[in-house]
Amino acid sequence: MKARIVYASMTGNDADMADILEEDLQDLGFDVETSEAEFTDASDYLSSDLCIFITYTYGEGTMTDDIADFYDQLKDLDLSGKYFAVMGSGDKMYADHFCENVFDFEKMFKQVGAKEVTKPVTIENAPNDNDIDAIDNAAKEMADQLNG
Ligand SMILES: Cc1cc2nc3c(=O)[nH]c(=O)nc-3n(C[C@H](O)[C@H](O)[C@H](O)COP(=O)(O)O)c2cc1C
Repeated sequence: MKARIVYASMTGNDADMADILEEDLQDLGFDVETSEAEFTDASDYLSSDLCIFITYTYGEGTMTDDIADFYDQLKDLDLSGKYFAVMGSGDKMYADHFCENVFDFEKMFKQVGAKEVTKPVTIENAPNDNDIDAIDNAAKEMADQLNG
């Protein structure tokens, strides 16, 4: 099974999440490719079974340009028959906007026909031990759904 992880990270927290998930999925037997949103075209998802997006949220949910460009590319795809998962890091100080971009992408993946394999993993700032467990568990759910 092929998994594609695309992530956006300014200060490294979402890049760390991507690293953890990449290692988990490789251990579970996936062939994984990981890249940053600003250097990736969303159409790269078309060659994967499992499409993953991991993102920060800045500016009370307003998308930064690199995420907005990727979002616009995603909007034009047909991902029916594919599976997806989203995750990301934010800060609860932003209350109603906590991890808003993660949920924006969740909606868009559904809109373009992909099937969600696990609930979004949303964490605060850098991943701690509990967050790492949550990512590990999400990876196991992904493997169960795709292999089961
Ligand atoms: C100026 C600024 C605005 C932010 N706005 C939000 C926000 O609207 N919602 C949120 O959940 N987190 C917000 N955050 C927190 C970041 O999303 C959080 O620190 C995240 O871990 C950064 O991820 P990164 O290290 O991958 O860039 C903001 C942080 C900064 C510095």
